[in-house]
Amino acid sequence: MQKYSFFQDFEGWEAFRSRPLHERLPLFFREGRIYDVLFSQQFDRPFLDGLYDLTNRIRRIAKDREGMNWLHGLHGHQRAMLYFVQPSTRTFLSFLNACHILGFHTSEIRNPQTSSEIKGESPEDSIRTFSSYVDLIIMRHPLEGFSEKTAWLLNAYSDRPVPLINAGSGKDQHPTQALLDVYTLQRSFEHRGGIDGKAIAMVGDLRRGRTVRSLSYLMKNYSGVKLLYASPPEFRIGEDIKEFLVAQSIPFEERNSLDAVLGEADALYMTRIQDEHDEEGASESHYSAFSLFRESLSRMKPDTIIMHPLPRRGEIDVAVDRDPRAMYWRQERNGMWIRAALICRIFGTDRQVIAEGQAFCS
Ligand code: CP
Repeated sequence: MQKYSFFQDFEGWEAFRSRPLHERLPLFFREGRIYDVLFSQQFDRPFLDGLYDLTNRIRRIAKDREGMNWLHGLHGHQRAMLYFVQPSTRTFLSFLNACHILGFHTSEIRNPQTSSEIKGESPEDSIRTFSSYVDLIIMRHPLEGFSEKTAWLLNAYSDRPVPLINAGSGKDQHPTQALLDVYTLQRSFEHRGGIDGKAIAMVGDLRRGRTVRSLSYLMKNYSGVKLLYASPPEFRIGEDIKEFLVAQSIPFEERNSLDAVLGEADALYMTRIQDEHDEEGASESHYSAFSLFRESLSRMKPDTIIMHPLPRRGEIDVAVDRDPRAMYWRQERNGMWIRAALICRIFGTDRQVIAEGQAFCS
């Protein structure tokens, strides 16, 4: 992992950060519209339902060349920066391609050793520099809270703030992954009453997996959902998430094996061990008890869907891929479309998609 030389202190940041989340959130909205996308707690049910509809519209428009050309014109005059200084395959590529679908010209930094950070420029000054050149910043960073700090900084200090999207922040949050996860759940349960009332099992390294944290927060938007957390004892879901679920009256149970949730779940959300966060020896866990093999499939309900944010290791055997309940490859494709919809929503071009896009749908 890159060792940064220093992070900067800005007057007002510590005071802002110490305020409760509900007091900080309004800074990241403009005229009733989301502007900086930083936390799953920013999304409510009307937003999620609207984004679901918008994503489906964009997919229909993109089905032919004429529609795709029209989508390119929506943001053909704008530029986006992808600052991904933590490894990524699908989040990076799905955002890059979402930007290209909408016509954005893009630039990227994936290795700060190739930027002026190697000369000692702070990451904060780097972000401020990007905002001099582009209209949108999409960021993955290993430090929890850094995307919020830079969004705050652009809003508080810069005379040219641009929207900032958190594409994964340390062990903390991955809000756009949660968006594509609920989109996948909603599409899968479209003819079964939607997400409401479903039992969703999250399996694996829940302590350090930011996707399960962000997805858990989103469950406040659905009624009658029950969460089943299955993990090795050392990788249990965080106390802060449990406190949130209790406060929101969302029922949850913790179990100590995959077998213990297999027959009950409507959705099985598998995750890999997050050993990039290891302190020495921490991940010497018996992870095979939290891995899905073909032999286990018969113990699942016939319509349970299998999800995974990917990348995977051995926790879903490749033999499972051919089972019709395996959704993870569709799930990663969904990411590109919902990220395109999210960007339209930030910039207000969702109104154009809704008003004019119908003409391109056969
Ligand atoms: N799901 C996810 O964030 O994958 P990447 O790390 O490949 O972006």
